[in-house]
Amino acid sequence: MSFDIVESIQKLKKEKDVAILAHYYEDGAIQDLADYVGDSFFLAKIGQQISNKNILLAGVVFMAESVKILNPEKTVLVPDLGAGCSLVHGSPYDKYLQWRKDHADALCMTYINSSAEVKSISDVIITSSNAAQILEKIPKDRRILFGPDQHLGKWLSKKYDRPMIFWPGACEVHILFNAKRLFNLTLEHPDAVVIAHPECEDAVLQYAHLVGSTSRLLEEVEKNPAKKFIVATESGIFHQMQKLRPDVTLIQAPVMDENCACNDCPYMKMNTLQKIENAMKTFTPEITMDETLRLKARTSLDRMMDITSGKPVTWPESFKE
Ligand code: 13P
Ligand code: SF4
Repeated sequence: MSFDIVESIQKLKKEKDVAILAHYYEDGAIQDLADYVGDSFFLAKIGQQISNKNILLAGVVFMAESVKILNPEKTVLVPDLGAGCSLVHGSPYDKYLQWRKDHADALCMTYINSSAEVKSISDVIITSSNAAQILEKIPKDRRILFGPDQHLGKWLSKKYDRPMIFWPGACEVHILFNAKRLFNLTLEHPDAVVIAHPECEDAVLQYAHLVGSTSRLLEEVEKNPAKKFIVATESGIFHQMQKLRPDVTLIQAPVMDENCACNDCPYMKMNTLQKIENAMKTFTPEITMDETLRLKARTSLDRMMDITSGKPVTWPESFKE
């Protein structure tokens, strides 16, 4: 890592009043220079509350869009506008809209890993750290549509015994973890605690002692006295885990192909220190959004924020475009 570039970014942060928010899947060097590091819910919440005039979000674009929707006064920068997400790519607006229309009586829970357009036709947004709390508030007599991550939805549905209709999307990184190879690894390391993100397939999750969001997995490594963990999520989080617990051994859960380091998220890893420095110098790329779309997308994000802060919410009787 070049010391010069880190110093330059630190200087730009002060000069231009920019707060850097980073997700746990970013490279360690990016996490270390960020003002706030967290999971997708934490980043949306902090992005809404921040006092700096400008925000640079080192994560993926839907995270930066969520901040812009919630806090439109801020200039929201990203290192690379190409930092997408397979869940966003797999849930195009027109198809999601048709799905909603086909089940107009149902309430639609949409994962934050979705476009602003898809959020604008959803009833409530969830993340893996608050999904259970939000599900609890959905009346038992309402049918539920869950998208775009079918694996997170299936885990939730099974755990809380709530039937759902699933959008057939998946995270291209988490579905690569391989259940059979994970099982063999647990036999080799019977002393290891297996922790997994709920975007993994059910066959993988059944071997996990704990399933949770990135922040929940981190908390487990911090608090569980075990000395060894098998981790089924993106490798970027190892940085914070190892910082909190330098005494533990972390083993990445295996994918099918032994020679492939394919559980790195290619979108998160598009961000580099160079691109961050460039974005802060030029104030591009910036997240911009049509105001009508922003306001429509805000309703479902506001419901998430209201429920998680203990406020009452009301639900629409049926879907209207
Ligand atoms: P978290 O909300 O757990 O940080 O997950 C975001 C994500 O994109 C996982 O792949
Ligand atoms: Fe999307 Fe998966 Fe990358 Fe998370 S890890 S941003 S869900 S592609």
